[in-house]
Amino acid sequence: MIKVFADLQALSHAAARLFAKEACRAIEARGQFSVLLAGGETPRRAYEILARQPLRDMVPWEQVQFFWGDERYVPPDDQRSNARMARQTLLDLVPVPAAHIHPIPYRSSPRESAAEYEDILRAFFNNGPPRFDLVFLGLGENGHTASLFPGTYAVEERERWVTDVYVAEQGIYRVTLTAPLFNRAALVAFIVAGGGKALILRKVLEGSMEPRRIPAQLIKPVNGTLLWLVEREAARLLSHDCLTDAPLRPHPRPRHHSN
Ligand code: 6PG
Repeated sequence: MIKVFADLQALSHAAARLFAKEACRAIEARGQFSVLLAGGETPRRAYEILARQPLRDMVPWEQVQFFWGDERYVPPDDQRSNARMARQTLLDLVPVPAAHIHPIPYRSSPRESAAEYEDILRAFFNNGPPRFDLVFLGLGENGHTASLFPGTYAVEERERWVTDVYVAEQGIYRVTLTAPLFNRAALVAFIVAGGGKALILRKVLEGSMEPRRIPAQLIKPVNGTLLWLVEREAARLLSHDCLTDAPLRPHPRPRHHSN
């Protein structure tokens, strides 16, 4: 399912509303909502919207469990940290219990960080199948998602739930959940914006299957839903029949708007 939005604001509102709706649904059904947050810049606005009215009051924050799909191997206070961005835009602004925030730990090596996070996940899911209620993912211009970068062994990993990876083009280690874990989720939502993503998005959705070269193509929920929330410029190269009949969604007008 692909939904196209007029601009980043509308896309961000849609992503925030999706979070709130799925959280209410999961908590109503099972008393808990587990979510994997995406890093990078695109989700920032959506997190900010979630931390404000009306969505802030809609979400039963005490029953939400926050995890991350990946993290840069940097100290928690480093400005490149995905967890730091989420705290600044959302987690420090809503009443989620500190014990429900599960950042990827920064340990003495990326391998140790990955191993510890896998233990955290296995404990959370009581060593059973790890099924997140909602997974947010971004898309890199080279086809990566989370930290599943083209040509890395992280893309091939099928046993471990979490692995470390060296991203040569960025000169940085990262820790990432693996494709089998993302694919066990109930709902995976990509959030993609900007004309710079148009070419890679067309390759992901309409090109030949080359998941080693385009790791985002690995993401196919086994028993769940895959949703693409795409801003108009990022969608501009998609063929007509690739798009759903979902109309463009302008972001909601401010309440004070006269007409
Ligand atoms: C990260 C993300 C990464 C991101 C894409 C898109 O840690 O950077 O996990 O996969 O989602 O690179 O990033 P932007 O949203 O900044 O374009």
